[in-house]
Amino acid sequence: MKNTVITFQEAKGREKLVMLTAYDYSTARIIDGISAEAGINALLVGDSLGNVMLGHKTSLTLTLEDIILYCSGVANAVNNTLLVCDLPFMSCHVSVEETLRNAGRLLAEGGAHAVKMENGGAFCHEVRALVQTGIPVMGHLGLTPQSVHAFGGYKVQGKTLAAAQKLLDDARALQDAGAFALVLECVPVPLATRVTRELSIPTIGIGAGPHCDGQVLVWQDTCGLLETTPKFVKKFGEVGAAMRAAFTAYAAEVRSGAFPDRKHSYSVPDETIFDALK
Ligand code: KIV
Repeated sequence: MKNTVITFQEAKGREKLVMLTAYDYSTARIIDGISAEAGINALLVGDSLGNVMLGHKTSLTLTLEDIILYCSGVANAVNNTLLVCDLPFMSCHVSVEETLRNAGRLLAEGGAHAVKMENGGAFCHEVRALVQTGIPVMGHLGLTPQSVHAFGGYKVQGKTLAAAQKLLDDARALQDAGAFALVLECVPVPLATRVTRELSIPTIGIGAGPHCDGQVLVWQDTCGLLETTPKFVKKFGEVGAAMRAAFTAYAAEVRSGAFPDRKHSYSVPDETIFDALK
C-alpha cells in the first residue's frame, strides 16, 4: 500500500515508521523498490544533500533551486514511499508568502508530497498557512542544523530543564498548528520519550533514542560511505568498500586490456564490409 501522511497518522503507537534520506534517482529507485517488503515508509530529500552530495561545510549554503533539482530526480523513482523535502535555509521564516511560494515549488517542481521545516513555536503561523493550503508539514526540533551557528556547533539539544521545556512546548505548538509528524534530532532519550508520549503525531528520531515512533538516517551513513559519523549512526553495510573494490577492478581491467571484451562490444555479422572503408 502506498505511504501517505495518513500512513503516518495511523502508525502512531502501532508500528515503527522508517525514513531514509535520498538525493538522486538511482538511489531512490533502490530504496523505493524494496520499500514495501523492507518496510520503508518515507524518503527525505534533506538539506544534508549540501553536505553529503556537494561537500558543503554546512547545510546553510544549499539553495532552493538545488534541492528542487535533486528532489525531482528522487520523485521520478518514487512509487510507494512518502516523499518529504526540506525547506532550505531562508526559504522559509522570512514571510508567510515566501514560505508558501517556496514550499509550493518543492511540491509542484520537485514532486515532493510534503515539506520539512526546521524550528519551532515561533513559526507555527507558517505551518498553519501551509497546512491550510494543502501542503503537509513535518516539523524538526532539537539539533536543527540550519541553526548551527546559533548553537555554537553540532551539539545535543534540550539538556537543561528550560531547554527541554521549550522543546516540549514547541512540539505541542507544531502539532496544534497541523504538522503531521515531527523529527527530533540529537536530544536526550528521556526528552524524546516524553515528547513522543505527549504528542498524537508521530516523532521521527535521529540521535533521539529508541522510543520515538520512527527513525531517519542519512543513507550514506547507513552504508559506510562517509568518513566522519556521529555517535547515533550505525553502519548497516560497507558500500564504500564495495565501490572501492569495483572501481579498482575496473581500472585494472582497462589497463590490462581485459575490458572491454567481445561480450561487452558491438559487432556485425560480416566484419569484412569495413575493409572497404576509405
Ligand atoms: O537534512 C537531513 O538529512 C535531515 C535529517 C537527517 C533529519 O534533516
